[in-house]
Amino acid sequence: MHQACPSLRSLSGDGWQPSPILGIESSCDETAAAVLDVDGGVLSSVISSQVAIHGKFGGVVPELAARAHVTAIDIVVGHALARAQCKKDDLGAVAITRGPGLAGALLVGVTYAKAMSYGLSIPLIGVNHLEGHIASAWLSDPIFPLPCIVLVVSGGHTHLYRRGADGRCALLGCTRDDAAGEAFDKGAQMLGLEFPGGPAIDQLAKRGNPEAIPFPRFQRGKTDLEFSFSGLKTSLLYKLRDMKASVQTEQVADLAAGYQEAIVQVLVSKAFAALAQERLSALAVVGGVSANSRLRVLLKERAEREGVCLAVPPMAYCTDNAAMIASVGRHMLLTDYCPICEFDIQPALQVGSGPTPV
Ligand code: KG4
Ligand code: ZN
Repeated sequence: MHQACPSLRSLSGDGWQPSPILGIESSCDETAAAVLDVDGGVLSSVISSQVAIHGKFGGVVPELAARAHVTAIDIVVGHALARAQCKKDDLGAVAITRGPGLAGALLVGVTYAKAMSYGLSIPLIGVNHLEGHIASAWLSDPIFPLPCIVLVVSGGHTHLYRRGADGRCALLGCTRDDAAGEAFDKGAQMLGLEFPGGPAIDQLAKRGNPEAIPFPRFQRGKTDLEFSFSGLKTSLLYKLRDMKASVQTEQVADLAAGYQEAIVQVLVSKAFAALAQERLSALAVVGGVSANSRLRVLLKERAEREGVCLAVPPMAYCTDNAAMIASVGRHMLLTDYCPICEFDIQPALQVGSGPTPV
């Protein structure tokens, strides 16, 4: 049973008094903290990556991730406050990712944030990580229009939403198997590249020819808004199996370019199919894969050609960060959300039918 928190110092009869807000993110392999000012501007955003810890395993090891969050969280929060020139006592709320993500990793952040909220007598807001990614499109472009189509492309999600004028998101389609980021990571592993695979393929593909080695592109029908990347992955596996090691080495950049092209072309084509289906002309693309340089070029070209208003977050807000979490928490507090002191982590949380804050 959720309990309302009655005596928090930044809450009055008129609701939350706008004040600096601290955001914390610990859902996967990045420990992040950020401070937003009274008007929602980003004062600081600090990210401590665990790439060095997980790199040798070729993927995120949940237990190691949780331990690394324990070591880093207080230091990262300290840096975020110092860079923002903000004292703990200046804070008016703490926003924390409550899901989706790795259970142990989420628990570290939520427990830390609960203690901080209790100690400072300020509201604690549990934020949906996916809503954070969605909000990242509005962090640098607060007047980006609604309604619009939102494509969330991260390590665990490839989801297309229609976001209405009221901020609510309705799911239009998603992946049937791997997420786009997962396809990048697994493909990179097969190609012998470093972890995380997305940035590694992105870099290598710049030296390759995307047409040299064709890969299958999942297109069941022009109007179908579902994704699938498992066939693509299998195709890379078979191509590598049938190639001599010396040819693999020679053609590794072409393989990376062709593989990447198959992923990004499908993402672009489905996002624009969603715009056509919903008769909309505004598209936001968010999540780690939105950092992909080829995807950004293709999106920009097509948006310009078709007169579509496009929002892709600056690189710093594409991958996991805490500014996006603080931004959602701030909006929830400003729109009559009643903070609760007790809530649990939700490792499998999805985007619900409630408003996704701008
Ligand atoms: O949003 P994110 O940081 O974490 C999740 O919520 O999952 O996304 C991480 C994913 C990883 O799969 C990573 O390989 C991918 O985003 N990624 C990229 C690039 N940068 C990160 N994929 C393609 N190109 C990139 N430049
Ligand atoms: Zn994420």
